[in-house]
Amino acid sequence: MSPVNSASAKTKTAAVLTISDSSYVGKRKDVSGPAVVRELEAAGFKVVHASVLPDEKDAIAARLIECSELTRLVITTGGTGIAARDVTPEATLGVIERRIMGMEEKMRQEGAKKTPFAALSRGVCGLRGKTLLLNLPGSPSAAVESLQAVLAILPHALELLDGNTEH
Ligand code: MTE
Repeated sequence: MSPVNSASAKTKTAAVLTISDSSYVGKRKDVSGPAVVRELEAAGFKVVHASVLPDEKDAIAARLIECSELTRLVITTGGTGIAARDVTPEATLGVIERRIMGMEEKMRQEGAKKTPFAALSRGVCGLRGKTLLLNLPGSPSAAVESLQAVLAILPHALELLDGNTEH
């Protein structure tokens, strides 16, 4: 029997953060966060944290840091666009140490097959320590489509972060 260490125990867990002023104040039901949770669960992840935050850079950054200590996969939905309050990418850039541009671009490429507006998402992906952080756009369909674009990459990425470097 292989030993259960904290690294491998964290590998198949995830946190989901919905970034939306209107959902935070209860004006709009959060549909995107639960949709992302369902998609992750269908892929075999256990979602250990889900919450809704306003479009506030410092609050987002603080929650990203907390979650990256809890799990190896932290996913945000919302706040990636070009409206004045969209600051999720800036908050994420402030806490990641290494950026994974290929994953961000893959999301936009797949999105562009459905809508040219996919180019308006500035979502970033990167690493904080051994945790992978992914920004998804905010609408439920955009969030699910963007997650699906990289879902197949996640198991290998998380294995590599766990130190299993065989291909
Ligand atoms: N990506 C996909 N796959 N499908 C979409 O419908 N919508 C775009 C884009 N990405 C979209 C998408 C739109 S209209 C915007 S404004 C940006 O995501 C940013 O969305 P956000 O600010 O809600 O994060």
